[in-house]
Amino acid sequence: MESDFFVKLKQHKTKMKLFDVYPLQQITPVKGKGCWIWDEAGNQYLDCYGGHAVISIGHGDEAYVKSIQDQVRNLGFYSNSVINPLQIELADLLGEVSGYPDYRFFMVNNGAEAVENAIRLASFHTSRKKMISFNGAFHGRTSGSLAVTDNSKIRSSFNNDHEVVFVELNDTDEISQLMDHEDIAAIIIEGIQGISGVVAPEDVFLQFLEKTCDRHGTMLILDEIQSGFGRTGKFFAHQYANIRPHLITIAKGMGNGFPVGGVLIHPDIKSSMGMLGTTFGGGHLACAATIAVLEVINNKGLIKNALDMGHYFQDRLGGIPEIMEIRGSGLMIGISFDFPIKELRANLLNDGVLTGNSSDPNILRLLPPLCISKNEIDTVINKLKIVLNKINNSETVSISK
Ligand SMILES: Cc1ncc(COP(=O)(O)O)c(C=O)c1O
Repeated sequence: MESDFFVKLKQHKTKMKLFDVYPLQQITPVKGKGCWIWDEAGNQYLDCYGGHAVISIGHGDEAYVKSIQDQVRNLGFYSNSVINPLQIELADLLGEVSGYPDYRFFMVNNGAEAVENAIRLASFHTSRKKMISFNGAFHGRTSGSLAVTDNSKIRSSFNNDHEVVFVELNDTDEISQLMDHEDIAAIIIEGIQGISGVVAPEDVFLQFLEKTCDRHGTMLILDEIQSGFGRTGKFFAHQYANIRPHLITIAKGMGNGFPVGGVLIHPDIKSSMGMLGTTFGGGHLACAATIAVLEVINNKGLIKNALDMGHYFQDRLGGIPEIMEIRGSGLMIGISFDFPIKELRANLLNDGVLTGNSSDPNILRLLPPLCISKNEIDTVINKLKIVLNKINNSETVSISK
């Protein structure tokens, strides 16, 4: 029997609608396991997008589910006004796994908030306000994170008053000029740019940034929100360049779907009471989810799997003649075509493969869970070939018409 409440609700003439801001892929996932998701009709899809690089250890991992269930049964949440041993355990584990045991850790709820706090810390520490960011960068949609994001379309007038200079990636000359003439609080850079189409800074450029920041007392912020947590075959993408930034932002794969983010902070940056804060950040459930993610990454060797499967994926993609260029590292892959990939992506979805796009219309972005297997990659490759064939044939037909 429906309650009076729901009967009355259905009679309402004006129903609240969603604020329409997302272009939606035509799929309604209701279930996930490993690298697979199912829609409401029971159709199965290989998830090569991971809900925006969020699914790291795979959908529905049993140890992860159990850890969250056990935690919510014991204590779902308490705020940062009490001692939370889970935060201490997580910081210890994260320091060990990431290679930054001497850094400090501050927890937040998502990527933008992590960037926002990293920017504020850089400004507090240097007493400066000007930032350098890069063409194509994406760091979030809150005030500060949006100011260092290279997309004027999503910036309101209110967001326009920050002092940020955008520089071409890998342009050492322009950075040197700016650093010599201005007091720069921080340089912020993605480990690998994701939204712009999987574009990696050169290792030597990152090494140059580390040196120039040290020389000028400027903070180097590495945004590893998309490229971190093992996705590229190292815990952080910047570890390929052997550098140690002052601040590292994390989120996405950190919680495997549980909303959580954080900042790793160089020990020279000192804290003071009330300097940063959040109500929900670092709550008990967020800690339990992240600890479980790190344990599964370790127990299942997922960083090595990301590296090995990344190589395998790139090798197999290399045999497809329509592909112009394959970019990225590990399981953060950008595939460039000489045509817009919109139709290709829709066809792949029809054939059971969910993929990502980017701000470059010709780049298909692949961000599968780190547990993907060779068999699953073979499935993606075969479907990609079938779809490309279909598109080629339909083009031939339309040309011959
Ligand atoms: C590199 C990078 N930084 C920051 C963000 C913002 O993260 P969130 O959407 O969790 O605020 C994103 C999101 O796509 C990202 O890719």
